Amino acid sequence: MPDKVLVTREIPAAGLRPLEGFDLTVLSEAPPEREELLEAAEGVAGVLSNVTEKIDAEFMDAAGEGLKVIANMAVGYDNIDVAAAKERGIAVTNTPGVLDETTADTAFMLLLAAARRLGESERTLRAGEWHWWGPKLFVGVDVWGKKLGIVGMGRIGQAVARRGKGFGMDIIYHNRSRKEDAENELDARYTDLEELLQTADFVSIHTPLTDETRHLIGAEELGKMKPTAVLVNTSRGPVVDEEALADALAEGRIFAAGLDVYEEEPKVHPKLLELENAVLAPHIGSGSRETRDGMAVLAAENVVAVLSGEKPKTPVDQ
Ligand code: DGY
Repeated sequence: MPDKVLVTREIPAAGLRPLEGFDLTVLSEAPPEREELLEAAEGVAGVLSNVTEKIDAEFMDAAGEGLKVIANMAVGYDNIDVAAAKERGIAVTNTPGVLDETTADTAFMLLLAAARRLGESERTLRAGEWHWWGPKLFVGVDVWGKKLGIVGMGRIGQAVARRGKGFGMDIIYHNRSRKEDAENELDARYTDLEELLQTADFVSIHTPLTDETRHLIGAEELGKMKPTAVLVNTSRGPVVDEEALADALAEGRIFAAGLDVYEEEPKVHPKLLELENAVLAPHIGSGSRETRDGMAVLAAENVVAVLSGEKPKTPVDQ
């Protein structure tokens, strides 16, 4: 009897191919209801999950003792209770590497759009309210030659820094540890968070969500930023205190924000929705065809590896 594998959402076809020999259940395109998810978990040996599913002890117990691997189709895995998986001897994997450049593109897209007021100017044009070229019309702030502050200098942070370099930006970063390769390659300078917030023209966040990074950027930190600064977040919503951010934007204490992630997805703070200086994307950071194929294939290969008794390609630290 082939092992049972659960794929919690519809994924690109490329990701299903490696799983062809298994007894496969693929749920729908939309995130499953909790009951449906728990029911589908029963008796599975492998799970290919997404960031929308809470994979906790209850889920693992619903699956039973045969569950060997949880492969998240994402680089972030804060939706998974890794400690509970460890206790039960279940491997957890993610998809690092394959989405760095695409997510960095999204961060830079938001950075440019927020700096140059693309969202509000496009809304005006579509509403038929664009009447003339204007010396003061939708004047934003320059990106080229400015100071880019990267919070979290992992693979994605470094990919954003490379883009910044291409725009002639001066790169500073804050990270748990020094990244000497990035310092050499990108001429990036390490600073503490305070100096980064006080001096950067653009602050782009690339930290995972952990107990330490929850609300890393709150009212106090926003208060340290320049009034002309732009904040970009493509990591996880709860790293930023959304209420504090909305207030800072509304009061002009920072210039603009570009966000791809939110504290309570898919809910977006109502104050943010009202703000012209917030560019808001619906968590599409890794959303290119090529990258989603790559993520799906890597997640599937991790399932196959563990169920074949081999080491997964990209295990998370447990
Ligand atoms: C991730 O990979 O963690 C993203 O949030 C989903 O692509």
